[in-house]
Amino acid sequence: MLIRYKKHYEKIAMGLLSFMPKEKNLNNLRATMKKYEADPNYKLYLWKHEEDMIGIIGIYVQGDSIQIEHVCVNPSHRQQGIGKQIVKALSAEYPTKNITASEDTMNFYDKCFCTIENSVEQR
Ligand SMILES: CC(C)(COP(=O)(O)OP(=O)(O)OC[C@H]1O[C@@H](n2cnc3c(N)ncnc32)[C@H](O)[C@@H]1OP(=O)(O)O)[C@@H](O)C(=O)NCCC(=O)NCCS
Repeated sequence: MLIRYKKHYEKIAMGLLSFMPKEKNLNNLRATMKKYEADPNYKLYLWKHEEDMIGIIGIYVQGDSIQIEHVCVNPSHRQQGIGKQIVKALSAEYPTKNITASEDTMNFYDKCFCTIENSVEQR
């Protein structure tokens, strides 16, 4: 189940985001968290499985489009379809939006949907 990020999930969210290659650098990770907390166009959702937060997805919303900026699953829960479920749940949450992937998430997004519009939009 997708859960909207709240400040009290900060540590778990940072831990999950740090699985993205670019977010292994702590300064990058802090800047990313700040963006999700301060900019209303950036939104973060955690994936709750039973009582645990085991995944995360971060998006940038602009008009009719959504770009997936981050998608991560805890290594102990990988290869079980969770990542794909997260992406599908996100599209269900925004049924009228055109969902695209950033350069950093497009490889996995391509796996989720074969007919995807790969977006490397300039903004
Ligand atoms: C990418 C990630 C979210 C997938 O989570 P998951 O729950 O294991 O995904 P699923 O079980 O739904 O799907 C697994 C499939 O995705 C593929 N996959 C995993 N990581 C991938 C990647 N970086 N790019 C493309 N495909 C990837 C697996 O090879 C597997 O393929 P298969 O179905 O042909 O066997 C997870 O590996 C992760 O957190 N990676 C680190 C963060 C990251 O790099 N995110 C951006 C990825 S572009």
